Amino acid sequence: MATFLENAIDIAHDAGALLRSYFEQRVSFELKGAYDLVTVADRASEKLVVDRLKSLYPDHSILAEEGSGHETGGEYRWYVDPLDGTTNFAHGYPVYNVTIGLEKAGEMIAGVVYDPSLDELFACERGAGAYKNGRRIHVSRARRLDDSLVATGFPSRRRHQDINVHFFYQLAMATHGVRRGGAAAIDLASVACGRLDAYWEFGLNPWDMAAGRLLVEEAGGVCTGMTGGPHHLRGPHILADNGAIHEEIVALFGSIFRGEAPRSLPVVQPA
Ligand code: IPD
Ligand code: CA
Ligand code: CA
Repeated sequence: MATFLENAIDIAHDAGALLRSYFEQRVSFELKGAYDLVTVADRASEKLVVDRLKSLYPDHSILAEEGSGHETGGEYRWYVDPLDGTTNFAHGYPVYNVTIGLEKAGEMIAGVVYDPSLDELFACERGAGAYKNGRRIHVSRARRLDDSLVATGFPSRRRHQDINVHFFYQLAMATHGVRRGGAAAIDLASVACGRLDAYWEFGLNPWDMAAGRLLVEEAGGVCTGMTGGPHHLRGPHILADNGAIHEEIVALFGSIFRGEAPRSLPVVQPA
């Protein structure tokens, strides 16, 4: 009998192939609420993933972004983001993925992130390491923030209240650069495989982080809240990094929260 992870990998490959075919056709988008975009591809991918999980594991709960999951009261719960990076996808920018994570009794035990553009499948099981296309991956060895490449994201909701511009600026000044890829699960997978040294974001949902967090941990990295305390999947924030630069980032974040950031935003002068 196939394991949970083997089944999740199969489903992610199939959902990813479906996403790729929609991507090639270019699909139109609608607004979900005031700001978030949604496409036919989000819904079709979710149907594929959720139908397969329900038929394999009728007793398991499923929390899926577009709302087709269900609560069973069982000890297993799947987290499904059927299309992470919808804004990129809707604009034809090829950075998106499908991500599936599995929790048992409140602890993540398996996760998959599949990026159809690069045909990269990231997979992990608790205690068994993290893999990209079957090969073991590890976080980077960067030891200092000023040798690091980092990433963040900005929520489409409540942008007028977004404090992240302060963090973006301070980190841009302190590192080799800050990337904004537009797909949280790929950002986390990128920390896991050492392409990025750190990633943080305010205002995420559990399906954005479930698989990626376990990938980072199984690749030897660290995931916490923004002040270095334990990370909560149901909480909206995450700081993920290679462990070696963790204290330096937490210290810098602390200074920003206290209003004592090392650099002031420059005053804009007419050119
Ligand atoms: C979004 C992406 C994006 C992040 C947003 C997420 P979605 O997920 O991961 O990178 O900045 O916060 O909501 O809506 O495309 O599944
Ligand atoms: Ca997402
Ligand atoms: Ca999504």
